[in-house]
Amino acid sequence: MTRPILIAPSILSADFARLGEEVSAIDAQGCDWVHVDVMDGHFVPNITIGPMVVAAIRPHTTKPLDVHLMIAPCDAYLEPFAKAGADIITVHAEAGPHLDRSLQIIKSLGRKAGVSITPATPESAIAHVLDRLDLILVMTVNPGFGGQAFIPAMAGKIRRIRDLIGDRPIHIEVDGGITVATAAIVAEAGADVLVAGSAVFRGERGGDYGGNIADLRASAAAAAELKA
Ligand code: DX5
Ligand code: ZN
Repeated sequence: MTRPILIAPSILSADFARLGEEVSAIDAQGCDWVHVDVMDGHFVPNITIGPMVVAAIRPHTTKPLDVHLMIAPCDAYLEPFAKAGADIITVHAEAGPHLDRSLQIIKSLGRKAGVSITPATPESAIAHVLDRLDLILVMTVNPGFGGQAFIPAMAGKIRRIRDLIGDRPIHIEVDGGITVATAAIVAEAGADVLVAGSAVFRGERGGDYGGNIADLRASAAAAAELKA
């Protein structure tokens, strides 16, 4: 079965002084989701944006806002992000001892629930929460910054997660170092949602966001089809 490939540009690589325009531009130029990286300077060594910024960009797109929380603890912030307009809320398995509770809170807020694992975390960390999940976000770099190199060992982890999921309707999203070349590797391994910051906002076609999105999608779709 080939799943449609979805492209989720990370606005971490956008021009923050023109964030609304940047979000409208990726929407108009063919993105599927808008990926929002939330960092707290504690769970990861960088600080980015909070619920007020999510609320501010919400009117600039009709696409799902895919909010990636790299914060610990996270539970107190789930409702503010839901209210700000997040459609999908992803928390890190490493962010606290009560992942199952965090996922229950996201579902109770009526939002889609995701869990992310960093490169060092084995897929067994999510084995007992699969039935609460809409999405698994496999970090293909160590979270904290855009523009890092893809970690090749993550391809095997994606393959094992695809097996673990079985027939469940759960997306496998990848995040970090996704380019036209690595898009093919992760799609072949079983990922169907590709986050890309640098490769969309300053990719092989420079600032042609639509062209960059189309190239990523074409590369991933061809690899996924070849495998099927
Ligand atoms: C990293 C973030 C990513 C990042 C990806 O911690 O979660 O979403 O923006 O950036 P690129 O695509 O440039 O690796
Ligand atoms: Zn992210």
